[in-house]
Amino acid sequence: MSLRQRHLLGIEPLAPDEITALLDLAERYVVLNRSGRKHTDVLAGLTQINMFFEPSTRTQASFELAGQRLGADVLTMQVAQSSVRKGETLIDTALTLNAMHPDLLVVRHPSSGAVNLLAEKVTCAVLNAGDGRHEHPTQALLDALTIRRAKGRLHRLTVAICGDIAHSRVARSNLILLNRMESRVRLVGPATLMPAGAADLGCEIFEDMRAGLAGADVVMMLRLQKERMDGGFVPSMREYYHRFGLDAEKLARAHPDAIVMHPGPMNRGVEIDGLLADDIRRSVIQEQVEMGVAVRMAAMELLADNLRAARAG
Ligand code: CP
Repeated sequence: MSLRQRHLLGIEPLAPDEITALLDLAERYVVLNRSGRKHTDVLAGLTQINMFFEPSTRTQASFELAGQRLGADVLTMQVAQSSVRKGETLIDTALTLNAMHPDLLVVRHPSSGAVNLLAEKVTCAVLNAGDGRHEHPTQALLDALTIRRAKGRLHRLTVAICGDIAHSRVARSNLILLNRMESRVRLVGPATLMPAGAADLGCEIFEDMRAGLAGADVVMMLRLQKERMDGGFVPSMREYYHRFGLDAEKLARAHPDAIVMHPGPMNRGVEIDGLLADDIRRSVIQEQVEMGVAVRMAAMELLADNLRAARAG
């Protein structure tokens, strides 16, 4: 069970067997995390540094917990109180921390490609916790684990990813992963929120949400990423909810057993009805959060194995 890469920068370089191996290992951590003794010493003696240059609740908390449960020394840099505020660049910040000999560096950054650039400059393993509109690999992996547990497989599923596709690294990483695992992806949303060249991404495009949801096994909702928008992309929130907000009436077009997903943070009443989000017969949103810890434990264990092998050899 191994990853062929030194870093986890995106889903793009991962082969299906690597994705399956990582999810299989994560399953073991689901069991551990539900037990009364959540600690192992898999990362004992190693140091994990988390650098979040954008806000986060789920990803940051779950990487911290994952490292602690695996026995690593975990430091989360407080970016707002760091010398970044005095003008220190991302690369200089990373080189400074690298000099303290971390083994794992977890980075979220608003610029697409920033984490890849940083990975070229440091000697430790780097995990991308989301970079701009580019990739959010651990989110796609935790989504995949959630889907596999609910549906029993990752192939031959129809997955509708709905909402603000253009600004979403979650959509991009999920699209790559689901295509690689031989599921069918539909992108559903207004033309203004579709990325250029979406039709060439190996998926179907729908502007009519009811048509896009027809027969879908999985409905994945995304929020409007206003922090990445330059100007107005939708006429009004009311109009957007009417056309693209997920409610019981629109969900009725999907497969009767379809699950509802959302990476969070959710905007209730904008992209999803609040009651539907809380309906545990359909919504797996809280399970996604739970799977996040297990998937990040698995990813860090596999990268640490590579690191140790490289140092030994
Ligand atoms: N899904 C996700 O990345 O959530 P956070 O921004 O809270 O980490």
